[in-house]
Amino acid sequence: MAETPALAAALAGAAQAGRPAHLGLMHVLMAADTEGDARAGLQGAILAAQGEARQRLEAVQRVWAVQPQAWGVVRAVLAEARHDVAAEEAGAAVARWAKTFDQLAADRPEAGVALYALGDPALLAAASAEIVDALAGWGLLGPDRAVLDLGCGIGRLTGRLASRCGLAVGADVSGGMLAEAARRSGPDRRASYVQVTGRDLRAFRDEAFDLVLAVDVFPYLVQAGEGLARDGVAEAARALRPGGALVVANLSYRGDDGRDAADLAAWADEAGLRKEAGPERPFALWDGLVFRYRKDGRR
Ligand SMILES: C[S@@+](CC[C@H](N)C(=O)[O-])C[C@H]1O[C@@H](n2cnc3c(N)ncnc32)[C@H](O)[C@@H]1O
Repeated sequence: MAETPALAAALAGAAQAGRPAHLGLMHVLMAADTEGDARAGLQGAILAAQGEARQRLEAVQRVWAVQPQAWGVVRAVLAEARHDVAAEEAGAAVARWAKTFDQLAADRPEAGVALYALGDPALLAAASAEIVDALAGWGLLGPDRAVLDLGCGIGRLTGRLASRCGLAVGADVSGGMLAEAARRSGPDRRASYVQVTGRDLRAFRDEAFDLVLAVDVFPYLVQAGEGLARDGVAEAARALRPGGALVVANLSYRGDDGRDAADLAAWADEAGLRKEAGPERPFALWDGLVFRYRKDGRR
């Protein structure tokens, strides 16, 4: 068996307090070179651990037993959604991500938008409901509100937002994801889906929305070029009404929370947004790092 430093770190993370078992399993499966290495590493870590750490690792093993597809799902998505590509021009990167997500929409739509749900629709539904409930708890939803779900993917959040707002627009660079979102969308006419260029939000007029929500989408802008991410924040600010909110869940996958916080603070400042809360990890089912900003003025 090959327990690489990456696998050892993932196993240590899975044993830590506060990490849900399905997230621990996702990181272990991402870090292992083979399914056998993941199984052997997990078993070895259980035998070596004590007390609550051992119980948490056993919980990871139980999740894997009831989600036997997890290895295949995680590895298939990782093989398609490559983050380790050589430097490329921003337009080329946006086009590559659009193509990647078109393919994921066809192959593995649910795992493609939220790998941590391991392809389990019930887990994805619970994690999605938790995000929308938090937005409601922060006072950001209501029948008089218009919401933009930027990088909406299959619309798992857009549909839920529509049922709690006057209007919810899902925007995405991937036509495949938008087609999947429209197919899954119920008869609720408060939800609609729009394809965007991936470089701006020119499809939307100034001050059109009360909330711009970006869940796990800024990492693709940052990866395509920090200028693109900065422009994304400026475009979100332009599309917000005075008093409206920008909520970003995960700015990047760089693994540096301090750098993410500093970058977003600078871009938001340039765009005339002020920090309201975060960064924080407010969810039980997902470890997304959430930032909340507000455009000055009254709604
Ligand atoms: C990981 S998925 C998350 C989808 C959704 N927010 C969710 O949480 O279910 C990322 C989504 O962002 C979209 N995306 C990537 N780059 C984008 C860009 N520059 N502009 C708009 N959408 C983009 C992808 O097509 C994909 O649907």
